Amino acid sequence: MKKLRSQEWFGRQDKMGFLYRSWMKNQGWPHDLFDGRPVIGICNTWSELTPCNGHFRELADFVKRGVWEAGGFPLEFPVMSLGETLLRPTAMFFRNLASMDVEESIRGNPMDGVVLLMGCDKTTPSLLMGAASCDLPTIGLSGGPMLSGKFRGHDLGSGTGLWQMFERVNSGEMKISEVFEAESCMHRSKGHCMTMGTASTMANMVEALGMSLPGNAAIPAVDARRNTLAQMSGRRIVEMVREDLRMSRILTRGAFENAIRANAAIGGSTNAVIHLIAIAGRVGVPLNLDDFDRLGSGLPCLVDLQPSGKYLMEDFFYAGGLPAVLRELGAGAALNRDALTVNAKSIWDNVAEAPCWNRDVIRPFGDPFKQNAGITVLRGNLAPDGAVMKISAASPHLLQHRGRAVVFDSIEDFHSRINDEALDIDETCVMVLKNCGPRGYPGMAEVGNMPLPPKLLRKGVTDMVRISDARMSGTAYGTVVLHISPEAAAGGPLALVQSGDTVTLDVAQRVIRLEVDDATLAARRAQWTPPPLPARGWERLYVEHVQQAHLGADLDFLVGHSGAGVARDSH
Ligand code: FES
Repeated sequence: MKKLRSQEWFGRQDKMGFLYRSWMKNQGWPHDLFDGRPVIGICNTWSELTPCNGHFRELADFVKRGVWEAGGFPLEFPVMSLGETLLRPTAMFFRNLASMDVEESIRGNPMDGVVLLMGCDKTTPSLLMGAASCDLPTIGLSGGPMLSGKFRGHDLGSGTGLWQMFERVNSGEMKISEVFEAESCMHRSKGHCMTMGTASTMANMVEALGMSLPGNAAIPAVDARRNTLAQMSGRRIVEMVREDLRMSRILTRGAFENAIRANAAIGGSTNAVIHLIAIAGRVGVPLNLDDFDRLGSGLPCLVDLQPSGKYLMEDFFYAGGLPAVLRELGAGAALNRDALTVNAKSIWDNVAEAPCWNRDVIRPFGDPFKQNAGITVLRGNLAPDGAVMKISAASPHLLQHRGRAVVFDSIEDFHSRINDEALDIDETCVMVLKNCGPRGYPGMAEVGNMPLPPKLLRKGVTDMVRISDARMSGTAYGTVVLHISPEAAAGGPLALVQSGDTVTLDVAQRVIRLEVDDATLAARRAQWTPPPLPARGWERLYVEHVQQAHLGADLDFLVGHSGAGVARDSH
């Protein structure tokens, strides 16, 4: 084994070696721990303000057990934690900032390998992005989903149940006091959202990319086997350091193709599009929107989970989890079987014998839950650089639609008018929301699934075409066109849409079009002015450098990687 990176600190027999070791010894570490054994960083996103990751100190203890057993030296360190529910303006605004924290924390410290503890939506991509730019041996470990919510004898899914209950309140079918009763019932154990929202989707992506041990995505947070997986991940990362098995050997083009296909098969979140493109950008793997449509849109959704279906992550785990899905994909010739994973086996070696225990939850490739269910990419004069749509969560009768635009200039404008009984809107209209993209919000809020007007909900309308430059919660559903690029705040054509215009959606043709002639659009463009730059701070840096959604919304100067070497050393 080549000399370990950590020995550049701890192996020195000089004044600086004294300094590096002696200060560490204030924690009680004996001298022999600095003898050249692998130092494993445990990158922890624990925070009481990130409830989905609130159990991560316990999880880290199990990782440490495994590291000790394998002869490594575990050192836990905190990084910025991004909680989806509390953080304003939106956790996505900080994904790239957290990735910088991760990257520089890894690069600047004496570690040879890293275990990434990830749970709530943005903690997964931010850690993968930051670690990928350093490219040490790295293993991902998700915190696991919560147990199924239970309310009045029925399952209640994170997010999805909330949207559904408030639709019933708005239509007059349910009292608000009854909704509040469900607060303690929806989230009753540690873990992340237990629908196939963004957190569960990204945990599946970690596993499909080969970045975790098999089974990572679905084991509930409270199941003892989650701790076992943590311990096994601790053991394995020490071996990975000895094998010099770095992230760049795992995160290949083939691995990303597997992730795209897996996302289709699980009915995963549209957020995965942005995150996978951003992660690929860090390792230098070319990946674009068209890859999602070409590889995923024709694939079936095999998993009957909310928000596209009815079951929850606990059911998915008992049914066999992602290995059972990957086995179906592999049998259906929709898996790069040779893709390497963190356990040094190919993904097919890991899943070829994976059992499925419940065919209601995980359907066979030949008899899927939904056909042609992956991410679809739309283009046209309204979205020259693309927009995305999750077909599995849309209404089939709206996939070809032409309607009158009802435009909201911002999410505040939307909130101020949507409940107005006098709003000129019916179910044939197309709801258009502007200025919620990466720059516009800023941070690209999850507001693309605009709630329908109460007067239409009372009529029994359950879905309408909605289009925006925003994102949508992975737990949400509907015929919703998202991530329109370029966004309105960057001067994209979306900025020029006015109420009364006609919008055409034709999913089969992959078209989203504004039926307004070029001369009229040019006149409107002459009147358009860009929003002012924020005055200072992170918001200024972010708005000046964030890329558009179709490029992954990373900061332009963070794309790529620089390895784990530190060019300069002040000592
Ligand atoms: Fe954390 Fe949903 S709020 S995963």
